[in-house]
Amino acid sequence: MSDTKANTKKLYIKTYGCQMNVYDSERMAESLGGSGYVEVSSPEEADMILLNTCHIREKAAEKVYSELGRYKDLKIANPDLKIGVAGCVAQAEGAEIMRRQPMVDLVVGPQSYHRLPEMEAKAGNGQTALDTDFPEEDKFEHLKARPKAKRAPAAFLTVQEGCDKFCAFCVVPYTRGAEVSRPAERVMSEARDLVERGVREITLLGQNVNAYHGAFEGGTWGLAKLIRELAKVDGLERIRFTTSHPNDMEDDLIAAHGDCEKLMPYLHLPVQSGSDKILKAMNRKHTAESYLHLIERIRAARPDIALSGDFIVGFPGETDADFEATMDLVREVNYASAYSFKYSPRPGTPAAEKGDKMVDFDVASERLQRLQELITQQQRAFQDAMIGRDVSVLFEKTGRQADQMGGKSEYLHAVHVTDPTVQIGEMRRVRIIESRTNSLSGVVLG
Ligand code: SAH
Ligand code: SF4
Ligand code: F3S
Repeated sequence: MSDTKANTKKLYIKTYGCQMNVYDSERMAESLGGSGYVEVSSPEEADMILLNTCHIREKAAEKVYSELGRYKDLKIANPDLKIGVAGCVAQAEGAEIMRRQPMVDLVVGPQSYHRLPEMEAKAGNGQTALDTDFPEEDKFEHLKARPKAKRAPAAFLTVQEGCDKFCAFCVVPYTRGAEVSRPAERVMSEARDLVERGVREITLLGQNVNAYHGAFEGGTWGLAKLIRELAKVDGLERIRFTTSHPNDMEDDLIAAHGDCEKLMPYLHLPVQSGSDKILKAMNRKHTAESYLHLIERIRAARPDIALSGDFIVGFPGETDADFEATMDLVREVNYASAYSFKYSPRPGTPAAEKGDKMVDFDVASERLQRLQELITQQQRAFQDAMIGRDVSVLFEKTGRQADQMGGKSEYLHAVHVTDPTVQIGEMRRVRIIESRTNSLSGVVLG
């Protein structure tokens, strides 16, 4: 007993970027559990610090170095402290990270996490470890299985990784590699296992999740088939998926939004711009009109669906008219929520070569502000329209006040109630009575 205790080491993981990194961090923590690590919530008490990083915009990537700088004193106080960088910055910059920040002991790209325990063993005492390969094997298959501990009611499950779309601005095809789908049976068994451990809602993840085509008994399953099979799992109440590309929104998946009850009425479907000229320069391979037509078909299948999107403003060559086309598209779609970003040139991407066409910084900032105001108005209106409506809420956590419980509605709104009868993991019908800044509050029915 005392031996095990003495061998226990403490791991602090900080996660940046998308939900796929959140999932990866969970799996890395589990796999390092086999080397005696338990997770802790502050870097000060850690024997190993792991940053799971994002390279999508310059700001995201630079955060890594400022965060590493903050660990300098910890490393001086404890030379045995191991510091690792994982994720998309690790993939993009590799050994450069150790050159810029020599206290880093280990750099591991997103496709090599199953090699993390041996890398951890190697790193330290002046030794470093680097792995940014794109190996053939399924990293999740070789990662230690998830332990049987009880889980929170909502979980992520990565089913597809990588991207073959090569949008001109995006680093993902380079940091995550080519599109790979996990075999359907493996996804199904991981989902069943999650449900046994208390999970009621699963969000299927992929950089391009609707391009999923997982092997199954000599054939393949698309995302719609996977969702329909998952819907048969008793105890699993809700299914979501993210992120999708408009060109992979196939008929069966649209239909599933209408006829699969467990598939939630929320869809994140980024379009990036409303100008065909810019969409072409972005290599998106769709037009504003084809996107709007797609939205029409999705709404025909599920009229109350909450739509969400991503937008980039200030892409090289974007004129005022191009930007107005984006504003028009947003007005036409009427989003439940959306994310917008100022274009950030990324090393190695085709758009980064177009420095001469860069939009003036202040012009781009003003456009971003106008777009965000419009999106905020729409978000507000969609949220306020919930007042008086009955929604179903999966309760996930306790609130700040006594008896307060919080969860998500089917439309992904945060909902709070004050009710002592509500338990975490329960789905209850709630009547919405108030719309606050970032959440709704209501009363439990029955
Ligand atoms: N795979 C997803 C998400 C990609 S990253 C998809 O295809 O939609 C999330 C969002 O970041 C993108 O949708 C895009 O809006 C934004 N983004 C990606 N690269 C960017 C860049 N170089 N500058 C600004 N925003 C960027
Ligand atoms: Fe990036 Fe485009 Fe692939 Fe999305 S579809 S990950 S934006 S290249
Ligand atoms: Fe960022 Fe990599 Fe995700 S670049 S958005 S962490 S795929």
